[in-house]
Amino acid sequence: MTVHIGAKPGDIAETVLLPGDPYRAKWAAETFLTDVKLVNEVRGMLGFTGMWNGNRVTIHGSGMGMPSLSIYANELMKDYGAQTLIRIGSCGGMQDSVKVRDVIIAMTATSLSTPSRGIFKEINFAPCADYGLLRAAADAATAKGTPTHVGGIYSSDVFYDERPDLNEQMTRHGILGVEMEAAELYNLAARHGRRALAVLTVSDHLLTGEALPSEDREKSFGDMVEIALQAAFA
Ligand code: HPA
Repeated sequence: MTVHIGAKPGDIAETVLLPGDPYRAKWAAETFLTDVKLVNEVRGMLGFTGMWNGNRVTIHGSGMGMPSLSIYANELMKDYGAQTLIRIGSCGGMQDSVKVRDVIIAMTATSLSTPSRGIFKEINFAPCADYGLLRAAADAATAKGTPTHVGGIYSSDVFYDERPDLNEQMTRHGILGVEMEAAELYNLAARHGRRALAVLTVSDHLLTGEALPSEDREKSFGDMVEIALQAAFA
């Protein structure tokens, strides 16, 4: 047990998928895993461990935003020995070429600030994905025929952004989409020598204002979970 995770030692698999929403963790575990066991429910943050194609995997909520993800990812890496951590979540599209329902595989994650800022100080560290996971996810997405983009994303600290000029600069510099967690996951993976990746579904679009209808969310989310699982065990 840790401060925020009630799982017993050994309850957490070496491979962890991290959706922001604990109910997405529940849905993904019940949909894609067998022999599913609830391993955490402290503060309503649900985590499940089960089997996928003979491989043990945990699907655990991260909460929204980097401070929340940082708590869970720190404890999963340092206390439970998680080796491969893949964020699965939604993002807002930032390029005309990126459409709602497309998948984005995040090669890098730019940010204004992360919980690691205090360590890096004057250094602008470049948080990047594990290349093997990135390549395997891109291969899995291609095999599935899912429209997919690989490139940089923006991990923002705000959903209700009062500085739209920052988003404009991101778009101008080729950033594919905006979410709120990946940069800190990549920082922590670098610090602790673990593998990390973010696979994201485009749920809304900052340039067009389009949003994924709720009835389509499950299918798009499912494609992303399958890509993440295939990448983890490639
Ligand atoms: N901004 C930040 N995070 C997000 C968004 C967004 O537009 N869409 C999904 N996650």
